[in-house]
Amino acid sequence: MRKIYVFDTTLRDGEQSPGVNLNTREKVEMALQLEKLKIDRMEAGFPAASPGDLAAVNAVARAVKDVTVIGLSRSRESDIDAVREALIGAQDPCIHVFLATSPIHRKFKLRMEKQQVLETAQASIRYAKKYFSKVEFSLEDAGRTELDFMAEVVAMAVREGASVVNIPDTVGYLYPSEYGAIFKYLKENVPDIEKVQLSAHCHNDLGMATANTLAAILNGADQIEGTINGIGERAGNTAIEEIAMALETRAEFFGAKTGLALTEIARTSRLVSKLTGMVVPGNKAIVGANAFAHESGIHQDGMLKEKTTYEIMTPESIGLKESKLVLGKHSGRHAFREKLMDLGYDLSEEQVNEAFTKFKVLADKKKEVSDEDLLALLEEKLIDTPEVFKLETIFVAYGNESTPTARVRIATEDQTIEEEAEGNGSVDAIYNAIDKVSGEEVTLADYSIKSVTHGKDAQGEVHVVLSQNDVAAQGRGLSTDILEASARAYVDAVNVLIEKRKTFSRRERATL
Ligand code: KIV
Ligand code: ZN
Repeated sequence: MRKIYVFDTTLRDGEQSPGVNLNTREKVEMALQLEKLKIDRMEAGFPAASPGDLAAVNAVARAVKDVTVIGLSRSRESDIDAVREALIGAQDPCIHVFLATSPIHRKFKLRMEKQQVLETAQASIRYAKKYFSKVEFSLEDAGRTELDFMAEVVAMAVREGASVVNIPDTVGYLYPSEYGAIFKYLKENVPDIEKVQLSAHCHNDLGMATANTLAAILNGADQIEGTINGIGERAGNTAIEEIAMALETRAEFFGAKTGLALTEIARTSRLVSKLTGMVVPGNKAIVGANAFAHESGIHQDGMLKEKTTYEIMTPESIGLKESKLVLGKHSGRHAFREKLMDLGYDLSEEQVNEAFTKFKVLADKKKEVSDEDLLALLEEKLIDTPEVFKLETIFVAYGNESTPTARVRIATEDQTIEEEAEGNGSVDAIYNAIDKVSGEEVTLADYSIKSVTHGKDAQGEVHVVLSQNDVAAQGRGLSTDILEASARAYVDAVNVLIEKRKTFSRRERATL
């Protein structure tokens, strides 16, 4: 297996993500985690950018021991001097000097002819070489640079003793076969090319950064540059975790591997997200919350039979505990029963069916049914109180300048009754309407509400106590809507009350 060196630029290109600004303490914390991930090289910042960045690069340089620490520099002596200062104390320092080479950048940004670009780059590599044994040179916007001119600049960098030459697709413009072809061309046309390592650095403007980087590997790149979670300028950089897992999962195809401690991937991703404040999308490859989650019943059934049916890598391999079978509206009975067993419920077939029906009703309202949802649902009622009254629908009209009104439709054994009532609040109006249907004279002795699950679509659980003469009855209602939960709890309590009254009068009669 060919070793692919990993150059992490989360602390530099990643920090260039709009809205991200890491302080020294945060950079050091991230650097230490990147060291645990066993990246080979880490670009800690751009020291000439600000005194703060210089200090942060220096703190990183002193903190990490087993990783080459790199500082970025434009092709000018003052920038190179800033990197020298920033890397004092580094175990293995390296400078990364860059200059744009594409026609667009030459004409509009640098206002330089080809020859000037070549000479400026040469002078800066020479100056850097006086102070650093390891110099990486980048041809900014190489992706849009003429191949022959690119080869000329790379040949110069080789002659001047650069250790790594980087070929960035700075604006994420190329297609994988085009980017791969550049590496092939340079390998075939630049004298002594084997004296340097060729590096791939891709941006993700067209969503092709990972594919382009892999194409470069297939065409001889020795090093890949990227960031954790793919953060970076505009649409970001190549996500390092994607490259590492692609090489791991398709080892035979690529014949190359990184030296990363793959089980540190999930932890590193979480830390980067926490410190940058950049949330990882759920569907992000490798590290998204859904990357190892399965919702469809067919997939869950497959997973329970044999994990490789729907997983090409294991969650454990990136440091996660296990795959997630997410219970939602697409889930099937197999996964549902399995989840009940996990939660300690060994139910009869009939009970499972009953719970499954309730679960499907809830899943239609909620995107994801959590363990807490299930527990609440299971505890709700698998015991029997005859449903004398069964709530079918409620409608509530509320405005802060009008009297709340509620309409309820309730089924009894032989009919469906609809009633409307007003109240001093929405819940009061609902309860008055239910009283009209039931004809029961009850007192609301207690009402409480709590959220049993998390998030905006959490389930609310309402608990009420009704009293009638000496009989008290409790009722519970569960719904993603608190008014519906309130109505359900009340109807439930009325049913319990009627059942209790019957039992009570049977007992009374028996003692007479
Ligand atoms: O994308 C780019 O070209 C860069 C260079 C500084 C290497 O980040
Ligand atoms: Zn970049």
